[in-house]
Amino acid sequence: MKAMEIKPGIYWVGAKDSLVRDFHGYKTQRGSTYNAFLIVDEKIALIDTVKAPFSQEMLDRITSIVSLDRIDFIVANHAEMDHSGALPDIMRLAKNAQLITSPNCDANLKKHYNTDGWKVSQVRTGQSISLGKRTLTFVQVPFVHWPDSMVAWCPEDKILFSNDAFGQHLSPNSLFDDETPKDIIFEESAKYYANIVYPFANQTDKALEAVKPLAPSIIAPSHGVVWRTMVPEILAEYGKWVKHQNNGSALIVFDSMWESTTKMAKSVRDFFESKNIPVRFCSLKTDHISDIMTSVLSAKYIAIGTPVLNENMMPTMAGFLTYMRGLKPRGKVGFVFGSYGWNFRLHKEIEESLKALEWQIPVPAQSIKYVPSAIELEALQAALEPLIQ
Ligand code: FEO
Repeated sequence: MKAMEIKPGIYWVGAKDSLVRDFHGYKTQRGSTYNAFLIVDEKIALIDTVKAPFSQEMLDRITSIVSLDRIDFIVANHAEMDHSGALPDIMRLAKNAQLITSPNCDANLKKHYNTDGWKVSQVRTGQSISLGKRTLTFVQVPFVHWPDSMVAWCPEDKILFSNDAFGQHLSPNSLFDDETPKDIIFEESAKYYANIVYPFANQTDKALEAVKPLAPSIIAPSHGVVWRTMVPEILAEYGKWVKHQNNGSALIVFDSMWESTTKMAKSVRDFFESKNIPVRFCSLKTDHISDIMTSVLSAKYIAIGTPVLNENMMPTMAGFLTYMRGLKPRGKVGFVFGSYGWNFRLHKEIEESLKALEWQIPVPAQSIKYVPSAIELEALQAALEPLIQ
């Protein structure tokens, strides 16, 4: 296991988790990476670590450059275990290292690990450490992703070590944005934002405002590629996402028991297509909720369809709505539909839960008893007109 130099004296010493396909419920079909970085200057600093099972991989990469006793600083930007999992090992083995972290992260690390004997130095926003020719300045970015999150800025190299922000769950063949297909890294960046960062849009907006004046030439997140040629583009994408901008498209998410709700979903799709509105059609039987969230991020219109099952919704829809509500998408136009047998209060109840997300609901929930007829499907499309007015 070798380190990879990203700039003279700055090395990637992280781990590629190419085989992971589930990241606490997020489907990671392209794997992930846990990026850690080693800066070798007059002093030596390690920025973040990796998930615990990859600790030895990180240690091997570091020792391909320096011995562990030469490390002066270990920066913990965030306590979540994908970045802190190897801290117990490195703090035990790097005997001369001081842990640099925020007060919040220090407290959270104590709730994850036995930190007895660790030499810890707390830093707050604006505080710096000198490595010799280089400096690391720290900025707390609470809730990007946890209350303890922090980023590190190296002004001499204009590198932002951004931790979770600007990351992707992706295990690229190579490390840089220009060495990986652009459509893949932006798709995975959007998916990452939609599934991880979305609830913290306001806090991320503030962090973004703090980052822009720095004009970083490199952004080195803790997952996925290192941005070196597309920094303005990923900043621009985040600028849209934090403001809840959409691309005007529609998303239909549904499940069905006897295909009646599928018939309604297809009719809803026909409506959007007749208005030349791009529409994504997602069955909860086949699409993963974390992939659907990428379309939630970009869509303007979101149609939710479920039949009534025992006075409730399909369990797949309950799972999706629970997941989506936690991610707090804003600025959407919502619509609920579905088939029922003898009780259709459910569709109104779902509608109320969408209103709680501050979505516009210009069309009341549409429920059709048992199997929809051609006339009822035509009436459904006619009822949708106010959606786009
Ligand atoms: Fe990649 Fe919030 O940890």
